Amino acid sequence: MLLLGLAVAAAAVPLAAAAAKLATAQKEQGTSRFLQQLSDLGLWSGVVACSDSAEDEPYTAAFGTASYELDVPMSPQLRMPIASNTKLMTSVALHQLQQQGLLNISSPAADYIEPADFGMEGRWCPRVHGAPAGSPCEQPTLHQLLTHTSGLWDSQSCMTPESMAVYEEWQRPHCLGAKPGNYSWIIAEVSGQTPAVLTLANWTLQQPLAAKPGQQYSYTNDAFWLLTYIIEKVSNQTLGDYFRTAIFEPAGLKSTFYDLSLGQGREVHRQFVWNGGYTTPIAVSAGEC
Ligand SMILES: *[C@@H]1O[C@H](CO)[C@@H](O)[C@H](O)[C@H]1NC(C)=O
Ligand SMILES: *[C@@H]1O[C@H](CO)[C@@H](O)[C@H](O)[C@H]1NC(C)=O
Ligand SMILES: *[C@@H]1O[C@H](CO)[C@@H](O)[C@H](O)[C@H]1NC(C)=O
Ligand SMILES: *[C@@H]1O[C@H](CO)[C@@H](O)[C@H](O)[C@H]1NC(C)=O
Repeated sequence: MLLLGLAVAAAAVPLAAAAAKLATAQKEQGTSRFLQQLSDLGLWSGVVACSDSAEDEPYTAAFGTASYELDVPMSPQLRMPIASNTKLMTSVALHQLQQQGLLNISSPAADYIEPADFGMEGRWCPRVHGAPAGSPCEQPTLHQLLTHTSGLWDSQSCMTPESMAVYEEWQRPHCLGAKPGNYSWIIAEVSGQTPAVLTLANWTLQQPLAAKPGQQYSYTNDAFWLLTYIIEKVSNQTLGDYFRTAIFEPAGLKSTFYDLSLGQGREVHRQFVWNGGYTTPIAVSAGEC
């Protein structure tokens, strides 16, 4: 009896480890089966990496197709563009700069905007559209810009005549689609060129607010153009250089990069690129990782 008890106790540790391994394997199998079904139905292509603990080698698998035109299968080695999830990096950057005492996220964004950079007479202080005459102008904070509560609206949501048509008359001149010229400038912007960041921030600075800061949530890319300008101004680095030196390298993210030139010449998976007002599927390009 005693002997048996000892034997069970001795086996308990390996048994627990084996049970954990089995549970993990079952989870992996379940995940894999589910994702494979989605992929077989043509509903999903992608890569998954997950693990139960930091010590475990992650379970990694790829499903579906990276390029339908070229019949390239998805692979865990392909980089995925994360689009607006990059806004998280913007938030990390601002918090880092705050830790260094270079800015305060609770402060008005105008504190970090140099009027001379934009040929402005004074401090940025936008008015809410339709506010009664004589009401004061507003001072959105960095926090409000970050949390989509600044009152700025998303001029990028109406870049085309079709999308502009659904907006009210007063709003249309504030649509990006109303900005003179074709989209060559946005291609420049997505190449991460600072002057284009200035162009976009300048555009944002000219717009009225759609709501009083802090009153409502309204998703906006425009706020992030301003935040990009502010990060570049305060850090004296381009956004891409800042992300690389202050976030990716310290975190050991060797394969992660910020490159709004859309990864051309590097190995990256892209579903589409914005190109002159239409989307173009581009091939998965082989290159050095
Ligand atoms: C930022 O400013 C607010 C209000 O002005 C102040 O309460 C807070 O302590 C400041 N935070 C930092 C990190 O300086
Ligand atoms: C900012 O926009 C205003 C109004 O459109 C324009 O007059 C000014 O030249 C622009 N400044 C910069 C630096 O782009
Ligand atoms: C867009 O404008 C730029 C100069 O402003 C010009 O070089 C380019 O050819 C134009 N592109 C299209 C597609 O019209
Ligand atoms: C900003 O960086 C550039 C080089 O990238 C340097 O020449 C310049 O002195 C820096 N400015 C400040 C204020 O640190």
